Amino acid sequence: MIHAAELIQQKRDGGELSDDDLTGLILGFARGEVPDYQVAAFCMAVYFRGLSSTETYALTDAMIASGKTIDLRGALGRKVVDKHSTGGVGDKTSLAVGPIVSACGVPFGKMSGRGLGHTGGTLDKLESIPGFRVELSSEEFIAQVRDVGLAIVGQTADLVPADKKLYALRDVTATVENVSLIAASIMSKKIAAGADAIVLDVKVGDGAFMKTLSDARILARAMLDLGRRAEREVVCLLTDMDQPLGRAVGNAIEVREALDTIRGDGPTDFTELVLDASAQLLAISDLGIDAAEGRRRAQHAIVDGSAAAAYERWVRAQGGDPAEAALPQAPVVRPVEAPRGGTVRRLGAIRIGVAALGLGAGRRTKDDAIDHAVGVLCLRKRGDEVQAGDVLAEVHARDATSAAEATRLVRDAYELGDDAAPARPLVLDLLR
Ligand code: URA
Repeated sequence: MIHAAELIQQKRDGGELSDDDLTGLILGFARGEVPDYQVAAFCMAVYFRGLSSTETYALTDAMIASGKTIDLRGALGRKVVDKHSTGGVGDKTSLAVGPIVSACGVPFGKMSGRGLGHTGGTLDKLESIPGFRVELSSEEFIAQVRDVGLAIVGQTADLVPADKKLYALRDVTATVENVSLIAASIMSKKIAAGADAIVLDVKVGDGAFMKTLSDARILARAMLDLGRRAEREVVCLLTDMDQPLGRAVGNAIEVREALDTIRGDGPTDFTELVLDASAQLLAISDLGIDAAEGRRRAQHAIVDGSAAAAYERWVRAQGGDPAEAALPQAPVVRPVEAPRGGTVRRLGAIRIGVAALGLGAGRRTKDDAIDHAVGVLCLRKRGDEVQAGDVLAEVHARDATSAAEATRLVRDAYELGDDAAPARPLVLDLLR
């Protein structure tokens, strides 16, 4: 029997826990033998004291051992790739990268989550496609990656159940923002879902968990370490989340933007990230090419239409209607105009995320329903010159009242000034 109170005390006092202790605690919690209040206290002790890399690995292993795992390499007889973002505003990268990589002949299999608060979730975006099924069994997931070359599905209930419980507890005890807990949470799910090669996009800035580049590097190194120990090939891109990614923030409007990008007509910043992530995925796939060749092939898949064809095959395979016209559209569209001329010096990601949340594009609590049609289109981004009265953004709303509130928030998210905006590249670093 595990003595949870002793382990909490040890961690509270800065001690290091053994693999067996951590395994006992996490598996006991997953089985309902260790109560929430003790695990909540444990998480707070970890929040202040941290975990060593050995402890983080033991925690990750214990979380994986709490459920089933998927062996994609065993099932397909080849390497499968996956991509994951730590969460941001307007981050629809997987929706474009999946079809591109698949069109280049590399199987892509991803289990994904739902959005909470100002960050969107890939599953919610996919569910804006009429008919799209995100709840596939593990067998259906494997079969689709094998037969279609691409599947993005909801995490099955039997995969890392300890993380589901632990995350819910962290969410209500102010213990989400700890590097070891975040790294173990993300990597346990990635390792259990079976891909051999993973590109992680660690978001940095106002709209991300990690507000500074140095904190993002610490998280990236922790995840790289877990990947290495689990014999997975992992590359981390560290990318800017001080402003939303691309223009669209919402659900259906993000799917539309991903589709535009796959067809070669996406916003410049988003297209750059999609090409970089695709190039890195192709470079760690079994194609035996480097990132420069990966980027060339990704660009080619956009130009020759094979990425768009892969998108259609994938969406149909999961029961969805791939036609752009089938995506829901908001009944009320309001322009947000520039109050003065100048340069866009800042476009706050969190504020735009909160505006989209207020419109109904996200959920404040995990049981909230989502309005898939609504969102914000940021037509002007950091560094753009504008005249007074130019349209900065569009608010896509269900009704006039929610549109008015979102319009105010979006206007406040834009900081216009006379000086040039501080330069900040989208891809800030790459670690492997
Ligand atoms: N995403 C996760 O899956 N887990 C975390 O702890 C944070 C972000």
